[in-house]
Amino acid sequence: MLSDGQWIPGVRIESASFSLVIGAVVNALSTAVALRRYDVVAIALSRPAKDHERTFLQSSFPGPFVEAEKDIFVRSTNRSIPPPTAMLSPFLPDAKPANPRAGVELARETAKHASVGESQFPVGAILDCGSNGLIPGVNVEHPDWARIICAERNALGTAISYGINSFEQMYLACAKDTWATPCGACRQLLVELCPTMPICMDRGTESPECTTPESLLPSHFSGRSLRRQPGR
Ligand code: THU
Repeated sequence: MLSDGQWIPGVRIESASFSLVIGAVVNALSTAVALRRYDVVAIALSRPAKDHERTFLQSSFPGPFVEAEKDIFVRSTNRSIPPPTAMLSPFLPDAKPANPRAGVELARETAKHASVGESQFPVGAILDCGSNGLIPGVNVEHPDWARIICAERNALGTAISYGINSFEQMYLACAKDTWATPCGACRQLLVELCPTMPICMDRGTESPECTTPESLLPSHFSGRSLRRQPGR
């Protein structure tokens, strides 16, 4: 819940690679950072909070937060929680990029809002969801390095939380390393969710380099046999 009553959804995203599961709280909070909404005033969870989630909240947002009721956190400097108004739009106001260069330029702008207290290594992602719009993603760091959410997984997580699952293109920018490519965790989630989506990576003064998740991670673990039967 934000200070104006708008709210951000967050769902748990499972991966065939179990260690890459993104929890609902971290997913919603990283959406708030990418959308530059640091005015989080309350969080309600459908199950008890975990310690790393409390840490993520305290390290990324101005607090302090207190546990007001079971599984409800509020910012203690707020006298009251506003009544809910509308779900916050996850889309950027920008028009669809006309070409890969324009797309990576938007990703560069987005990267400026990364939360990189641990590494000072900002990354920006723009997920083009076709007629739905453009969803931004930035890396949001956690004092525990293993809990960091990368820009790519942030953008994908936001889309899934909002019920969007058709992706046209992703643009990436990483100013400190113009030859960077997505990390292993992001490759796995990308290949599970959108194996053939073009990904265009900023290459500085050279033309963006475009590839796809399936070419970045050939022979990936699909988890086919892990799928539950309908109704189970
Ligand atoms: N990072 C990303 O955001 N995307 C990647 O694909 C590579 C790594 C972030 C995570 C961490 O905050 C920093 O870059 C260094 O790993």
